[in-house]
Amino acid sequence: MNSTVVRQKFLKFFANKGHKIIPSASLVPDESVELAGTQRVLFTTAGMHPLVPYLLGKAHPEGQKLTNIQRCLRTDDIDEVGDSVHNTFFEMLGNWSIGDPKSSDGIGKNGYWKEEAISWSYQFLINELKLDARRIYVSVFAGDSDAPFDEESFEIWRKLGVAEKRIFKYGKEENWWGPVGETGPCGPDTEMFYDLDPTSTTPIDPSSNSNRFIEIWNDVFMQYEKKVRSQKSEVRSISESGPNEFEFVPLRQKNVDTGMGLERILTVVQNTKSIYETDLFLPLMKKIEDLSTSYNQKSARIVADHIRSAVFLIFDRVTPSNVERGYILRRLIRRSIRHASILEINEDFLQNLTKTAVKIYEGFYPGLIEHEDLIIKELQTEEQKFKKALASGIREFEKIKGNISGKAAFDLYQNFGFPIELTAELATEKGKSVDVKEFEELLREHQEKSRKASGKTKGGLAVQGETAAKLHTATHLLHQALRDVLGKHVHQTGSHITEERLRFDFSHGEKMTAGQIKKVENIVNKKIKENLSVNKKIMPKQAADKLSAIGLFDEKYGDLVDVYYIGNSPHIENAYSKEFCGGPHAKSTGTLASFVVKKEESAGAGVRRIYATIGK
Ligand code: ALA
Repeated sequence: MNSTVVRQKFLKFFANKGHKIIPSASLVPDESVELAGTQRVLFTTAGMHPLVPYLLGKAHPEGQKLTNIQRCLRTDDIDEVGDSVHNTFFEMLGNWSIGDPKSSDGIGKNGYWKEEAISWSYQFLINELKLDARRIYVSVFAGDSDAPFDEESFEIWRKLGVAEKRIFKYGKEENWWGPVGETGPCGPDTEMFYDLDPTSTTPIDPSSNSNRFIEIWNDVFMQYEKKVRSQKSEVRSISESGPNEFEFVPLRQKNVDTGMGLERILTVVQNTKSIYETDLFLPLMKKIEDLSTSYNQKSARIVADHIRSAVFLIFDRVTPSNVERGYILRRLIRRSIRHASILEINEDFLQNLTKTAVKIYEGFYPGLIEHEDLIIKELQTEEQKFKKALASGIREFEKIKGNISGKAAFDLYQNFGFPIELTAELATEKGKSVDVKEFEELLREHQEKSRKASGKTKGGLAVQGETAAKLHTATHLLHQALRDVLGKHVHQTGSHITEERLRFDFSHGEKMTAGQIKKVENIVNKKIKENLSVNKKIMPKQAADKLSAIGLFDEKYGDLVDVYYIGNSPHIENAYSKEFCGGPHAKSTGTLASFVVKKEESAGAGVRRIYATIGK
């Protein structure tokens, strides 16, 4: 059973149980969605993340039962990458019941709760994936002074036929999920594990042997919202975490949030020893082995994992930089380059591996192939920058005598772009230690200072995101203006945004005249002056097509799509621009201030490219 079959089976199974299939959101969270309910986080880390407003009470346009496959990125475990189960980019298969805050039970007539959630998970594992029931172990929330033992889930599992000796009770550490960031919806969960040892008959606690068991699925019962404690709050607090800072308040609605990591479940159904031998990784691993002249498994896994993440981050319009998302991307790329050099890969591995990764995923993410060249170029540019810095940085490193202080590590970061891992690895090779804590403190101070120095507003580092969001909105206006001036044959073939400018590739057979460029500029500036609002509507793909929404539609299996529309009328039909897109965007066009086309040139046969800036 390959990844495509597992994805299809999952969506079909839940669609048959009345769930609407919704598209995967971008790895870059929609900032306006985040503010609605949870703290700002850099990446989409779980399938529930884009659904936060609905888990907190907003009605979802597609109803209460939803399912999807969400691309996610988690970098907390970046140092564990290289073992058999840890990775940074992954896809999460999920199904949800969005509760109804107005109903008496908090679930509502079209929602569901523990009984359905647990039995459907079990049915899917046994009937669809054909897992061996005797190798399935589960855990439920044991209860503590804040919330009771989840007896209901325990009983449901027992009734389904899972022997009591294979049901384990764990505390909050293990069986409580969320919120994403510091605040937001959360609750007790029940987890499913699979015994990777087919010969073993004696049940043991899955948490006691992480090599023998793999956690495959998590059903979360979101009954609480973790909030910053308010002195005046009259709501009874049921728990607290930290020095009286937070409170867990019962939600008026009861949500089900489940998540199954695709790579992990493939390890089980494909009976492999690690995620790296599943069909989502194998072609990459083989390619790396072919290209290596000095192979070691750990470095190969790191390269494979990090390249996948970098490909998807660039696909979702992140660019390498020294702050926030850009810094994470830079770390991933630089770490992979470093490990490729340990593997003694001499060929252009970034190009080779990007092509391999795109091949693995293009069936499910058709938009990837269109961005392939851009992704490769972005990676190669970063490689050039890094190579230049590496040689001089290593010379500098070698001058340090003794252990590496946080300050020395910080200088290497600032002057040569050395991610802390690289300094740590070089130090280990020389038998030295690095003061990582001091480094992190200096990094934090530095970022704080540069935020203040640049006079950036709220959120500081978010300014990079804000500029990108504005340029993104400008891109939509440009796209529509080009269609107005040149004709309906104009379609986006590529788009790329840095902090300074946008770049837009589109289908058009000839060089634009100066007059045409001026016209396009004038239209965009007029739309900026009108200060049109930018809105998002989630709608069925068919309905969006009827409205002639333009742009790339990436998700093959989504019934629903996000359409951003720019216009002051509440009616999407009247909007100036309507485009499929994952966001993020400016709230209104006025914030773009102005728009200037800097350059128009060829980008291949039948494709033109425009560079443009805003705000001057
Ligand atoms: N949100 C839950 C998780 O990520 C399902 O495990």
